Amino acid sequence: MKRRTTIHDLRAMKERGERIPMVTCYDYTSAKILDEVGLPILLVGDSLGMVVLGHDSTLRVTLDMVIHHSAAVARGTSKSMIVIDLPFATYSSSDLPFSLRTAARAMAEGQAQAVKVEGGRRMAPVVGTLVASGIPVMGHIGLTPQSIHMIGGYRVQGRTQQAADRLVAAALALEKAGAFAIVLELVPAPLAERISKMLSIPTIGIGAGAGCDGQVQVFHDIMGMFEDFLPKHARRYADVAGSIREGARRYVADVREGKFPGPENSYDAEPVQDKRGG
Ligand code: KIV
Repeated sequence: MKRRTTIHDLRAMKERGERIPMVTCYDYTSAKILDEVGLPILLVGDSLGMVVLGHDSTLRVTLDMVIHHSAAVARGTSKSMIVIDLPFATYSSSDLPFSLRTAARAMAEGQAQAVKVEGGRRMAPVVGTLVASGIPVMGHIGLTPQSIHMIGGYRVQGRTQQAADRLVAAALALEKAGAFAIVLELVPAPLAERISKMLSIPTIGIGAGAGCDGQVQVFHDIMGMFEDFLPKHARRYADVAGSIREGARRYVADVREGKFPGPENSYDAEPVQDKRGG
């Protein structure tokens, strides 16, 4: 496909039973690789606060930060749909005009094609308002990290009958409000599968089992870059931290031993411009 993924493509993928891979992305260089590989959706997630900036939660992430990273991801992509997270306390069902201004800035300045908001039924008016203004919205229910201090910890949601019923009601309310997809985070696999079958829009799971229509993971977790901990729901597909460590050791040794730079890395007296104007 030569153009960017649209919300209609995603719906068609669900209808065809084609699973939807999605991964977080925060920078131009990684975005170029992921776009080339054919990831249909890249999420500029507020997880950047943890894996890129070293905070202990997503609560420190601001709208300016996600916009800054999203614009970089946009510059590196031509095919992947970019979904930008609206950060903590930048949207609220009790202030819809404020929510709309936030989403409009995120879309325009972050050059994204959709926004993601966390929250269940109480978020339906926000979703409805944004969608009515032409902004595609991805919902996010289950474990919602922006509410971590209300939830009391990073734990599986929807394990009691009452909690499961609440998640089902939330998914239906978000779909009715116009969300084009919903992230299900840390939801028991049978419940996530049930919700996925009930909805006509795709569900994207993270720690929600294989019965979802798609899967999302944090780039730094699955590429082996973030080594502080590996969530149970993630699998390492590369050892980027190991490669960087090895490369850095070789670089240090070469510099110390005078093996770098070599003649091929040095310039003679004739001024020669390299690609970056050096
Ligand atoms: O910010 C993020 O990375 C997310 C995913 C975990 C879905 O919201």
